[in-house]
Order: sequence, then C-alpha cells, then structure tokens
Amino acid sequence: MLVSVPAETRPGERRVALTPDAVALLVGQGHDVCVESGAGQGLLAGDDDYRAAGADVRSGDVLGGADLVLHVRPLLPGQVARLRVGAVTVGFVTGPGELDGIRALQAAGVTALAMELVPRISRAQSMDALTSQALVAGYRCALEAAMRLPRFFPLFMTAAGTIAPARVLVLGAGVAGLQAIATARRLGAVVEAYDVRPSSADEVRSMGARFLELGLDAVEGAGGYARELSQDRAVRQQQALAPHVARSDVLITTAAVPGRPAPLLVTRDMLAGMPRGSVAVDLAAESGGNIEGAIPGQETTVDGVRLYGMADAASAMPVDASRLYAKNVTNLLALALTPEGFVLDLEDAVLDGACIVHDGVVRHAPTAALLEA
Ligand code: NAI
Repeated sequence: MLVSVPAETRPGERRVALTPDAVALLVGQGHDVCVESGAGQGLLAGDDDYRAAGADVRSGDVLGGADLVLHVRPLLPGQVARLRVGAVTVGFVTGPGELDGIRALQAAGVTALAMELVPRISRAQSMDALTSQALVAGYRCALEAAMRLPRFFPLFMTAAGTIAPARVLVLGAGVAGLQAIATARRLGAVVEAYDVRPSSADEVRSMGARFLELGLDAVEGAGGYARELSQDRAVRQQQALAPHVARSDVLITTAAVPGRPAPLLVTRDMLAGMPRGSVAVDLAAESGGNIEGAIPGQETTVDGVRLYGMADAASAMPVDASRLYAKNVTNLLALALTPEGFVLDLEDAVLDGACIVHDGVVRHAPTAALLEA
C-alpha cells in the first residue's frame, strides 16, 4: 500500500501524523510511505530523518496516488479533490467550519476514519487521540499560566521570608483539566477544581487537588460526558463559583460538552473579581470560550487580570503531541492493515465508530444531521 503523509497546512499547526519512528514501523510491515517534504518541520524532524526511516520524501503533491492518507487537522476540500476513488483517510475530520471538507470526502468516494470518533472503550485506549492531545493541551495550559503569573507557583521558605504558594482553580476536570491540575501541583501550587460530573471528584482528589463541593446537582449525559446546563443551573453555578474565582491567583478552564459550543463558566465580572496580576487561561477559547471575552491566541487584560485564550494548544508541543498521535494512528491502523491492503471490518466496533464516511455515506448521525441542516 502507498501510505502518504501531507504536510499540515492550517496556520499554527506544527504537528505531523507520522513521526520517523512510526514511518519505520509501517515500512517494516511492508508498506511504501511517502512524506511531503518539510512535513516534520514542527518536530525538528528533517526530510533526511524521514528518508532514514524508509520514507520516500517528495515535494509537491503526495495525495494523488495514495491508498491511505494520514493527517492531523481535517483535510481541506482542495486536498480531498486530489484523492483517488477508494482511498482511505485517517485523521481529525469534524469541527466548526469543517462541513465542506466532509461533503468533499463524501463526493470523492473515499473512506474517512475520524480519530475523534474512535470509541472510548478499553480496547481502543491506545488509539484515543482526543485523550493524548488533551493531555498535551492541559499540561500546556498550566505552563502558559505559570509563565504569565508574576509570582511563584510553589511555597518558598527563605531567609528573606516565606512566600505562600499560588492558588490555582481548574474548571472542567476531564483529561485536559486533570493534566492541568497535575502540572500545577508538580509546580507546587495549591489547586482546587470543579466539574459537573460526579465521578470527577475522586479523580481531582487523586491528583492532590481539592474538589469544590458547590452544593449543586450533578450533570451527566450520555457516555459519561457532561451535557449542556439549563440557563438557571448555569447561573447558579456561576454564582457559586464566583467567590472561589475571586480568591484564585490562576484560573484555568477546560470545560466542554461534545457537539456543543463550550459552556460559559466565568463572566467578565467574575474575572474582574480576581486579584490584580492574576492570570486566566481558557483552553476552550477556540470553541466558544469558558471565560467571557477570551480570544483564541490572544492575551487581553480585564481589570488587571491577564486573560489568555489558548489556540492550537496541543500543537504548541508538537514533538510529543505528534509522537502520541502517530502511536494512536498506527494502533488504529493495526486493526485494518493487512498484507493485502486496508480491510475495513465494520463489524469491529472501533472501526465502525471511527468510520465517518464510506461509500458516499456520512455514517456519523450528528454530522449527517448538520449536513442536512
Ligand atoms: P471533554 O473535553 O468533553 O470536557 C472536559 C470536561 O468539562 C469534562 O470533564 C466535563 O464534565 C466538563 N464540563 C462540561 N461542562 C461543564 C460545566 N458547565 N462546568 C464544569 N465542567 C464542565 O471531556 P474529556 O476530557 O474528553 O473526558 C470526558 C469523559 O470521558 C470523562 O468522563 C473521562 O473520564 C472519559 N474518558 C474515557 C476514556 C476511556 O474510557 N477510554 C478516555 C478519556 C476520557
């Protein structure tokens, strides 16, 4: 099979779908791997590293003759148009503004596997790119906050006096939030956290943070995810959180609801209540924002509080993000790659869940509904 890896084209994207190690793995399995020249730039992996791993490195189009295309961010309609009928693509597919790309996949007669739709079941944990990339993003959020805070995270007891540790509040304790907690704890901060899912309380405590008991009803939707709050529940949560926000030096927000815009957790007034010089980092800025006024990729100041809207969080650490992503992709491919080629067994729950487009049909119901609308 000819496996192709195009360079990522989206602004700010520095990851790549296959690292040289992962190329060597596929070449060792007897596949031809073609990598677009410069694809590994963000990783500091040069064309020579890919050649040494056994790839054919090409300038220009690597999509045309490919049997299998591996990518990170969704392919653009123009890229999809270059694919041959029957080709298979593997990468992230959905997201705001990506419907044209999905229509293009449908029209091109290709089979597309969406990494974000890999079911979150035990057997597929090694293929879970949402988790691997959220882990990187959560770590990065804590670092972004620490770098902006004009004071230490840890307790310091020195001859010149004692400095109290920074107080960090993390809202949303899924994969990214837990990693932000772990990172802030490693840096020595005192950490509190809140999430609407009841099961998150023990996970927060296991990271050495205090779980905020707000006295509100828990909110859990299908598949262990959160669901959208009613307006009344959202306002009561804001009111209950306000005093905790006001006494934090650092606020990190990571809350998300699948298929919905990010919930607004912190209003401008709540933010303005934080001490001057404190820092807020909103990981959800690109999907609507958990903090009012957060702009992706930009820092603004609200009454002396530095507010940073994260953008391309996982891409900010492209080496390890790509290493984990490439592992996720090759582990998923192991379910379908045979010496005879790519065999899509839709009886396999993982391939069935991940396969978003096949035979001209969009198989993921929420995406199909969006296309209809
Ligand atoms: P996510 O990125 O969809 O959301 C992040 C967090 O925001 C979630 O913990 C959610 O409960 C929280 N949230 C949503 N609305 C909120 C609100 N209004 N206020 C406060 N918090 C709010 O979630 P993620 O990180 O992808 O994980 C979601 C679930 O999936 C978790 O239960 C996690 O344990 C589970 N999971 C299971 C895996 C597996 O079985 N293989 C792998 C990874 C995660």
